[in-house]
Amino acid sequence: MRGYEAWSYGDAFADVYDDWYADVSDVVATTTVLAELALAAGGPVLELGVGSGRLAVPLADRGLTVWGLDASTAMLERLRARPGGERVRAVVGDMADPATTLAATPGAPSTFGLVACTFNTLFLLTSEDAQQACVRAAAGLLAPGGAVVVEAIVPAEGLTGVERVLEPRTIEVDRVVLTVSHHDPARQRVTGQHIELRESGTRLRPWVLRYLHPAQLDALAVAAGLTLESRWAGWDRHPFDTASTAHVSVYRRAGSVRAEGGPVR
Ligand SMILES: C[S@@+](CC[C@H](N)C(=O)[O-])C[C@H]1O[C@@H](n2cnc3c(N)ncnc32)[C@H](O)[C@@H]1O
Repeated sequence: MRGYEAWSYGDAFADVYDDWYADVSDVVATTTVLAELALAAGGPVLELGVGSGRLAVPLADRGLTVWGLDASTAMLERLRARPGGERVRAVVGDMADPATTLAATPGAPSTFGLVACTFNTLFLLTSEDAQQACVRAAAGLLAPGGAVVVEAIVPAEGLTGVERVLEPRTIEVDRVVLTVSHHDPARQRVTGQHIELRESGTRLRPWVLRYLHPAQLDALAVAAGLTLESRWAGWDRHPFDTASTAHVSVYRRAGSVRAEGGPVR
């Protein structure tokens, strides 16, 4: 999508993100897992694509030191406006290269007990090279015993032809949201817009997802020196299987041992 930049998604969705996506995962279950992983490694947490702080603020509420990186200043304004948002150390940067941003940020740690990338955010990097750079950087930012956690959908298998979809997302008396998307299975890329129509005007919210199958994500992780420790079908840690539509994957540096005595399962 010409003109689509790292900040495009966040800038387009910041004003509606908390309304539209508050329930994409159970925040208590999600932050319980993230907090356990971070505490087992001695913290702090880095959330890549922190957004409006849906998870980062509750994590900070649990007493963790949380750093959040995001390319969108509009999203980070939402984070700062959220009650407790001031406790998250927010930095503007590209998650394809978080280390450069953090190195230039006074007070930022050089390593983290947990690097988290939730809710398909890794797929917002629109090329495999950028995704590989992100995973490699996440691995490089791990403290001893630290973990990288990725939450993502499991893409449907078997699609071969290009799919074009136009469907209603919301129909209200004074507002309609249409989703229009183009799915290119060969490039593993879905390009879309949520088109919001009101009598007062139109609002476009563009998005591009470059999805990965779990095995492809594992390959990026291995290339970054990580190994898969756990894969669950969700934040309640129920087992992942061939019917799972999403996964929560925990990676550690190859050869590193999880901190003893931690409650991580
Ligand atoms: C789907 S939201 C997820 C927000 C939060 N992690 C959550 O789970 O609610 C994705 C976030 O990633 C940010 N983002 C997208 N591409 C990015 C990039 N290249 N670098 C940093 N942040 C990016 C967006 O601005 C947005 O805030």
